[in-house]
Amino acid sequence: MPDPTIEAWTRENARYTDARAEQAWAAEEITWGIWNVPESELNALPELGGKEVVELGCGTAYFGAWLKKAGAARVVGVDPTPAQLETARRCEERFGLGLEFVDAFGEEVPLPDASFDLVVSEYGASIWADPYKWIPEAARLLRPCGELVFLRNSTLVILCSPDEDVAAVETLQRPQFGMHRFSWPDQGVEYHLPHGKWIRLLRANGFEVLDLIEIQTPAGADTHEHYGYVTAEWGRKWPAEEIWRARLRPRSS
Ligand SMILES: C[S@@+](CC[C@H](N)C(=O)[O-])C[C@H]1O[C@@H](n2cnc3c(N)ncnc32)[C@H](O)[C@@H]1O
Repeated sequence: MPDPTIEAWTRENARYTDARAEQAWAAEEITWGIWNVPESELNALPELGGKEVVELGCGTAYFGAWLKKAGAARVVGVDPTPAQLETARRCEERFGLGLEFVDAFGEEVPLPDASFDLVVSEYGASIWADPYKWIPEAARLLRPCGELVFLRNSTLVILCSPDEDVAAVETLQRPQFGMHRFSWPDQGVEYHLPHGKWIRLLRANGFEVLDLIEIQTPAGADTHEHYGYVTAEWGRKWPAEEIWRARLRPRSS
């Protein structure tokens, strides 16, 4: 049976991400989220020099390209949508950064245990994979004391979203208790948890939580032309996006 999320990402590749990939790869600065807030302001990433990095849900791999340009020794992008990987491979051919790609879901990654220093997910597995499956995979892939950094829609924006592709409103639209799997007609299946569940899940898989960065829409920014699930005005008052940073505890502790 066709996977609705892969079908959705194949459509999104054709209508949006493929055409923007090369420009995104060429960007010099690491930025976060739909309003491109610079990493130099948020400090969400550990030192990248010499690190081996895997991105779960790499898409067209512009984020991995930025990490490689910022000093990572190795970047492996994992994604289950062939069209997205095709774009990523074309960009790699053009830019020659040495990124590697693996066609797989974030829930089951065919890479060895303890083989990376950093797992990242920028709107990849972080929202499209079941956290109860991909967080254990992230822990398995990391060396002791390795870090996990992921960007997702905030729990609050999901609670205030009336429907797919409708901008978040200023009142709660759905219960927080029980939230986990969201099946949207056009966008496939997303996963969103409340903060308490994220913390318990991370701790149960050997992580200590280092930070939760709630991103504010920068002054003067406009509502994104493509990602209309939240307005700039909403995002200046409440966090629409959030970055989690966690570190794997040493195995003996
Ligand atoms: C917004 S894109 C990621 C963008 C990426 N950070 C980049 O630099 O291009 C989301 C990606 O998540 C992928 N995805 C969907 N389901 C997934 C899953 N179960 N595990 C990992 N990735 C998944 C999609 O194929 C899509 O390419």
